[in-house]
Amino acid sequence: MIKVAPSILSADFCKMAKAMDSLKEWGANIVHCDVMDGVYVPNITFGMPMIKDLRRYTELPLDAHLMITEPEKYVGKFCEAGADIVTFHPEASLDVSGALDIIRCHGKKCGLAVNADMDLKIAIPYLSQIDLLVIMTVQAGFGGQSFMENCLEKARAADEIRKRDGLDFEIEVDGGVCPANIAKVKLAGADIAVAGSAVFKAADPRSAVAAMQI
Ligand code: DX5
Ligand code: ZN
Repeated sequence: MIKVAPSILSADFCKMAKAMDSLKEWGANIVHCDVMDGVYVPNITFGMPMIKDLRRYTELPLDAHLMITEPEKYVGKFCEAGADIVTFHPEASLDVSGALDIIRCHGKKCGLAVNADMDLKIAIPYLSQIDLLVIMTVQAGFGGQSFMENCLEKARAADEIRKRDGLDFEIEVDGGVCPANIAKVKLAGADIAVAGSAVFKAADPRSAVAAMQI
């Protein structure tokens, strides 16, 4: 069954504790935390302090998606702040393997994210080292964007590779996912679906989450 990871980028930042209670009530599986530095992406969100406070407040797994430059400098700090999963964009890193090792050494799950405008090949050399591969179906930087179905081709290709090579990383599809396209997302091999606006802006968020747990 697809695990649903609502992105708190679409939540009300003035009511984040309430958002955590709601996510539990709505049956969400994971909390997706979009960290942006205004350099790798043209937006700035939050950093380690947010993760630290969310950790104190919820037992849900925290999935930190780092859209930052030189993530190798910060991945350890996000692990220490309480993230359970830390992913980053390889083209933004000067030491991809080193950053993955740091996350692993903290006993956390590590992963790479492939932006909409990037080729899957940037992640291929590391597939045996990761627990999670994030396939962006929007260009990183903002919530509420339109789903880019052509990016699912990368999820399908990654699914083929993991079957062929007996690898066990999970595939997370991130960006514009909603009940209307979740069947295609699942068919492409996704294990986890990130949904920000489809959950937090839904008239009935609980049904929206359930509709994507297929
Ligand atoms: C975009 C983020 C996504 C985004 C998802 O850079 O990585 O996680 O917040 O939000 P929706 O589901 O609204 O596209
Ligand atoms: Zn994200």
